[in-house]
Amino acid sequence: MTRKIIIDTDPGQDDAIAILLALASGDALDVLGITTVAGNVPLPLTSRNARMVCELCGREDIPVHAGARRPISGRTVTAEHVHGKTGLDGAKLDEPSMQLQSRLAIEFIADQLRVHEAGEITLCCLGPLTNIAAFLTEYPDLKARIGRIVMMGGAYFEVGNITPTAEFNIFADPQAAEIVFSSGLDLVVVPLDVTHRLLLTPSRLQAFRDIGSRIGHTVADWAGFFERHDIEKYGSDGAPLHDPAVIAYLLDPTLFTGRYVNVAIETDSELTRGMTVIDWWKVTDRPPNAQVMGAVDTDGFFELLTERLRAFGDGADRRYRTGSEMTCRQAV
Ligand code: BDR
Ligand code: CA
Repeated sequence: MTRKIIIDTDPGQDDAIAILLALASGDALDVLGITTVAGNVPLPLTSRNARMVCELCGREDIPVHAGARRPISGRTVTAEHVHGKTGLDGAKLDEPSMQLQSRLAIEFIADQLRVHEAGEITLCCLGPLTNIAAFLTEYPDLKARIGRIVMMGGAYFEVGNITPTAEFNIFADPQAAEIVFSSGLDLVVVPLDVTHRLLLTPSRLQAFRDIGSRIGHTVADWAGFFERHDIEKYGSDGAPLHDPAVIAYLLDPTLFTGRYVNVAIETDSELTRGMTVIDWWKVTDRPPNAQVMGAVDTDGFFELLTERLRAFGDGADRRYRTGSEMTCRQAV
């Protein structure tokens, strides 16, 4: 049975790889559409980049809907220092010819929740949670129709990556995160504690190149680009690959282990704004509100990702090379 998903995202090279992984997995995931949010780069660029990724793999049929330009309050935080000026620096791709859809992100989410069975749709959140908070505020009557939210965000043991105490997606819009974490929805959180175990070592980058397809080379080029920043920052053997972990969780949750715990968001403090205060050791009476992942099978994750991209790359490239009518979905 395929699971219906909407990907809410701020591409970003790692978001782009997550989108490719989802589109490569048509046997398990039915991507209803992509909604974009300001994050790694401003909204016009995240909306452009999402369409470029769809076109890279011949999936111009995926509707892309633009969402929030700025967080609920405060200034827009971006991360060009990691992802480059465009958010997808590192590989040369054509400007998209696909059009953005006219319906806004939250209208699209509402439309989809109305036409599908209650509980059928999973929201996959790969960026700041601004769109999801706006949706919950605007359409409270549709909240109960959301099956689950699986997100990349926050940290406990790894604490922060954009400030000493905050992870980027939560820091970029802590008020939105607070709305989502207090929503009572079924939440699965993939924090830095997991993604910092998913290092793009030289041999893993080489495995992408060895796929031999345009997609394999593009993924390796993207990863190589943002590595330069993270290797220097962390002194590690490779940069962490964050957002594809959300899609991998949907494809094979046995790769991950975690705990059902309380997560509270710091929204006020100058010093710790955007911190995810995770009650990992259950030292408070605050009720659990999220399944927070704490460990991952790193080799299993990279095998899954590389295998899926390999199967996909062949199909998408064949279409790219021959211009045939074969779609990627048929090819996987
Ligand atoms: C998150 O922030 C962004 O830079 C990445 O795309 C990921 O979603 C990691 O902190
Ligand atoms: Ca992201």
